[in-house]
Amino acid sequence: MNTQDALTVTSVTKSFGGVHAIADVSFNVRAGSLTALIGPNGAGKSTMFNLFTNLYIADSGTIAYFGQDLAGMRSDKIARLGLIRTFQTARVFAGMTVLENVLAGAHIGVSANVWEEALRLPRASSEERTVREKAAHLIDVLGLSSVAEESAISLPLGLQKLLEIARALMAGPKVLLLDEPAAGLNDTETLRLAELLVAINAAGVTMVVVEHNMSLVMSISQDIVVLDAGRVIARGTPAAVQADERVIEAYVGRATDTVAS
Ligand SMILES: Nc1ncnc2c1ncn2[C@@H]1O[C@H](COP(=O)(O)OP(=O)(O)OP(=O)(O)O)[C@@H](O)[C@H]1O
Ligand SMILES: [Mg+2]
Repeated sequence: MNTQDALTVTSVTKSFGGVHAIADVSFNVRAGSLTALIGPNGAGKSTMFNLFTNLYIADSGTIAYFGQDLAGMRSDKIARLGLIRTFQTARVFAGMTVLENVLAGAHIGVSANVWEEALRLPRASSEERTVREKAAHLIDVLGLSSVAEESAISLPLGLQKLLEIARALMAGPKVLLLDEPAAGLNDTETLRLAELLVAINAAGVTMVVVEHNMSLVMSISQDIVVLDAGRVIARGTPAAVQADERVIEAYVGRATDTVAS
């Protein structure tokens, strides 16, 4: 196990009935990297995210987070350690505004000491102010200021996904897992997102991005892991992966993805 890894996946297997969603998969995510996890539909990408956060339990194999085995750890504990994810289908809190959703992110991450806050009001209120300022800033950065007071569930899906990213950032991630962040975004919004992801990574957040938008993947990633039918078929830089025969073959005639640009 390499201590420079943010995530170390070793011989992980996960089946659903007869479907081998993840079949003896091993790879690492280097600390500080922006790593893409790509592959055709059904390759096992979202399953891998669910395994990272213990929403699914692996049939065998291990997953370590900065060297710590995550086996048996509750999902909320994993989030408090700084491993924060978004979902392929955005999961915003219905009945809350955009701002309230982002504020809720503060409670996903490092937990506040409630009794201490209750007894030390001045400090608590200044913390509260800081949290609100941070939320407003993130809403601004994600281009959601004009809808901050709107009901989150009323937003178009692409914007709900941006909201989920703002909420994830509010939690103060060390490692951010994004499942198809550009789905539902137009070209301009996607370009903005690309810049934002690179900036967040440059600020020290390790990132794993699952995406079907290949020009986005190839432009922002340092490292790419390619899954196909539950197995790792390639691993390397964008240039190496694009030139890889197995990758080209896996994508030929499938969906709308194109690896070669
Ligand atoms: N909860 C589940 N129950 C049964 N089968 C599942 C479950 N989750 C995933 N699968 C199956 O595991 C395989 C991998 O699915 P997964 O959602 O991980 O793919 P993906 O790479 O994220 O695909 P996409 O790009 O379409 O999102 C698929 O065959 C899927 O049907
Ligand atoms: Mg998926």
